[in-house]
Amino acid sequence: MSRFIDELKRTHRCGQLRPSDIGHEVVLFGWVAHRRDFGGCIFIDLRDRTGLAQIVFDPTYQVPAAVARMAGATGELAPQAALEASHRLAEQVRREWVLGIRGVVIHRGEGNVNPKLPTGEVEVRVVEAEVFNRAETPPFALEDSINTDEEVRLQYRYLDLRRAPLQRTLELRHRMNQATRAYLSQEGCLELETPVLCKYTPGGARNFLVPSRLSLGKFYALAESPQLFKQLFMVAGFDRYFQIVKCFRDEDLRLDRQPEFTQIDVELSFCNQDDVFALMEGLLFRIFEETGVADLRALYPEGRLPRMSFADSMDRFGNDKPDLRFGLELRDLTDLVIAEDGGGIPLLQGVAEKFKSGEYRREMPAAIVKALVIPAAAGFSRPQLEALEKGLREIKGFAGLARAKVGEGGVWTQSPFAKHVTEAFRLAVHAALGAKEGDVVCFQVGKPAVVNAAMSKLRLDVGKAMKLIPEFGHGGVWKLLWVVNPPLFDYDDETGRYQPAHHAFTRPVDEHVPWLDSDPGRVLCYRYDLVLNGFEIGGGSIRLHDPEVQQRVFSVLGIEEAAAKQMFGFLLDALRSGAPPHGGIAIGMDRLAMLLSGAATLREVIPFPKTNQGVDMMSGAPVAIEARQLEELGVRSVVAEGGNEPR
Ligand code: AMO
Repeated sequence: MSRFIDELKRTHRCGQLRPSDIGHEVVLFGWVAHRRDFGGCIFIDLRDRTGLAQIVFDPTYQVPAAVARMAGATGELAPQAALEASHRLAEQVRREWVLGIRGVVIHRGEGNVNPKLPTGEVEVRVVEAEVFNRAETPPFALEDSINTDEEVRLQYRYLDLRRAPLQRTLELRHRMNQATRAYLSQEGCLELETPVLCKYTPGGARNFLVPSRLSLGKFYALAESPQLFKQLFMVAGFDRYFQIVKCFRDEDLRLDRQPEFTQIDVELSFCNQDDVFALMEGLLFRIFEETGVADLRALYPEGRLPRMSFADSMDRFGNDKPDLRFGLELRDLTDLVIAEDGGGIPLLQGVAEKFKSGEYRREMPAAIVKALVIPAAAGFSRPQLEALEKGLREIKGFAGLARAKVGEGGVWTQSPFAKHVTEAFRLAVHAALGAKEGDVVCFQVGKPAVVNAAMSKLRLDVGKAMKLIPEFGHGGVWKLLWVVNPPLFDYDDETGRYQPAHHAFTRPVDEHVPWLDSDPGRVLCYRYDLVLNGFEIGGGSIRLHDPEVQQRVFSVLGIEEAAAKQMFGFLLDALRSGAPPHGGIAIGMDRLAMLLSGAATLREVIPFPKTNQGVDMMSGAPVAIEARQLEELGVRSVVAEGGNEPR
């Protein structure tokens, strides 16, 4: 039996030691972070999740009488023998070995204090020690900041997780979870569970499928969110629900998307949009407060977060998740281009003509013109501007960025438009944009979706290049925003049909219901996204519980009754059996943790994440499954061994 753990219980964690502990006897457990052997004395930095403590093995240490007595009282080694034994042990110790030590806290002495460490004023003179376990030399040094390849770190994630930044992040997530549970329970929400193995329904995110052994040839879908079930809780009278829940989506991955991620999922009965906002604002205030990240009350003293219409957000920022930490807003020049007949520029003349001939409609334009001014102060060189343009090429449909540098006397230089532009148009553009000499005006012309995608990315890239926002992280600035009331439907040019912009059970804005028949494209809905520093951290809606309006929405979508029944089956039945007015939201917990901790990707805040290829580097998942096992599930693979394409 080990004297440590069985007899000697831990008195402190390593990172907790302070000058007030001087003179006290302590027992610490931890991992060897560093070891320095100065011949006589051996210094070890002992690490646990709270930080580092310097422990010193000095065979000449005069053990204080009280400590010596305690050691002797157990019948173990006499103090001097214990000191020598521990010193011999420390000679063998290597990085990442696991130790228990007993010792006395002393001041490090003038000149030896390390102001960078919270424990930097003190050290522990070891009286006795035990090695709990040895460790192989780790494949990389476990320092706070390292430049080891991420794939290697993910392969040895259990070692990577020993590093302080990751320990801090996971502790932050713990506090976020605790704050969420306490707050939402206090607000009368019940924490209820929903199934992970669900029925596959088309639409929404792509699902992961799970073959059923008991019903061969049939599949479950992994829940992409508890959406339908939380609505059923409302029908069942649970009134207010929440869950911290894993969701699964087979999407293309990127820095803020993982195939399995966690939502704070909420649904409320008898609520309107304002009620959902008030509850979630309270939650965010509480999470920020309890994680000590920032004082949102000082930033939003009225206790409410600002709101912006979806239309406004698209117009001014080109997307529905504007980063409000800096300006550089976009300007729509379409009306100006029409008024000026294209200002002499052939590309714009073509656009103006189509509007004038009625081919393009101003309310739902097939093309728009937008501009962004890069201020002279940015001082971008031509190659820098070209690099910005190059960065936009990843956008589908992007065909190039037209630029004009405002030269002396306001003339345009370095521009394909310079030769043709009329003076009147040039002056009107300057007036509309407030552009001055030295500024660079960037233009995008074309389909709204492409123009907005390119211009919103350009705005962010310029913001980063001008250091108005950091490459990643919050930079100490927090800008929260509700983006509200987007259109209920998207119009699909190719099929000539409307599709639900979100899901088919989103409630249209009351005053817009009459337009469902006459002009569906104009109908806005009670859908909302919560945005933090340019990231969508949550989204939800007020649901459509009224069967009559729901029928009209389905007819806009061209969904017949039988098809609706097949697609939405039990939800439709449930909504007809006394569904209260209800609505809800889900917050992306991982995204919020990423932003709060200043991490660059979701991978840094998820204990065991997947790579962008969806691979778990540690276990190697996903792996091939033997034909025999597949057969049992009624599944046959069409992929050749080792390949990644269907045969
Ligand atoms: P939505 O699909 O908008 O809404 O998801 C809610 C929030 O979850 C986060 N999120 C993700 N985080 C990491 N990786 C992903 N792949 C990922 N996908 C989404 C985002 C997003 O804002 N059922 C509805 C909510 C509702 O209407 O109540 C839903 O799931 O931060």
